Amino acid sequence: MGNNSLPTVLVSHKLPNGWLDPLDNRCDLVVGPPEGDRLVEALEARLPEAEGLFILLTIKVDEDLLARAPKLQVVSNMAVGFDNIDIEACTQRGIPVGNTPGVLTDGTADLTMAIMLAAARRLFEASQDARQGRWTTWSPTGWLGKDLMGAKLGIIGLGKIGTAVARRAHGFGMEILYTDPHPNQELEDEIDAQHSEIHDLLESADFISIHVPLSDQTRHMINKETLQLMKPSSLLINTSRGPIVDQDALVHALKTGQIAGAALDVTDPEPLSPDHELFKLENCLIVPHIGSATWNTRRRMAERACENILAGLGNQHLPYCVNPQVYQER
Ligand code: GLV
Repeated sequence: MGNNSLPTVLVSHKLPNGWLDPLDNRCDLVVGPPEGDRLVEALEARLPEAEGLFILLTIKVDEDLLARAPKLQVVSNMAVGFDNIDIEACTQRGIPVGNTPGVLTDGTADLTMAIMLAAARRLFEASQDARQGRWTTWSPTGWLGKDLMGAKLGIIGLGKIGTAVARRAHGFGMEILYTDPHPNQELEDEIDAQHSEIHDLLESADFISIHVPLSDQTRHMINKETLQLMKPSSLLINTSRGPIVDQDALVHALKTGQIAGAALDVTDPEPLSPDHELFKLENCLIVPHIGSATWNTRRRMAERACENILAGLGNQHLPYCVNPQVYQER
């Protein structure tokens, strides 16, 4: 039974105990199952009365959904990326959209270093070989990989996460190149990072790590042509969004030795079917979109997402708003 005096908030997925506590007694929560990539019917049925929508990045918010939720006052995405949401449609309807920046910077930067190191040192293959009886001796040429020390890391997109990766990689002795519309002089002074054109970066980096959001401008920015610019010895790391890389072009580049390897936390689509070609390639490491997957990070993401819900319902500016122009249009 709904509590009529409190605003209805649909929460797309069940979260661990305590994560939604800030909403207790302030909203009538209708909570979905722990997993799934769409709103379940029971939640869809409540869209007409929903004033708040708390979602994960697997839920698409489009015109169709918005049309069925005429009372919606806030959409809160428990993620920093928001490519799952039609922002323009929300803005046109006067609905602010919130995300959770800042709190997943370190977790995602750590994971980027983890998969960069794993790919550089062939950890996945080496671990499989050890388990499956192919570790027969200590061989001077067994499982040889690449050094990070002295290697050039090209960072595409120097936002919060790109910057955190740059600092970590500098600690590993890497030389940092980056491409971004806004050069960061402070970081250049701090770790001797060099602002670079994308072409130069692709041609000279030993490791390339992607940290841009997914948009019409960035979709397939790594494609047949840009992969061709990379060195045959280079490794591509992606912890941002899968569709930034043209995956068919990547398969071809990995199979033909155009580049040496890839480490992906994100794919297109997600999940990637276990029989996808990328899983058959030894030079491709894939993990299931776990950049922010630490208890601390996820809990803090939930906190921010709750703050956005409460602000939206209270007609206050969202503390973490991705379409602040909505306030001008009101
Ligand atoms: C994770 O990918 C996020 O955008 O939070």
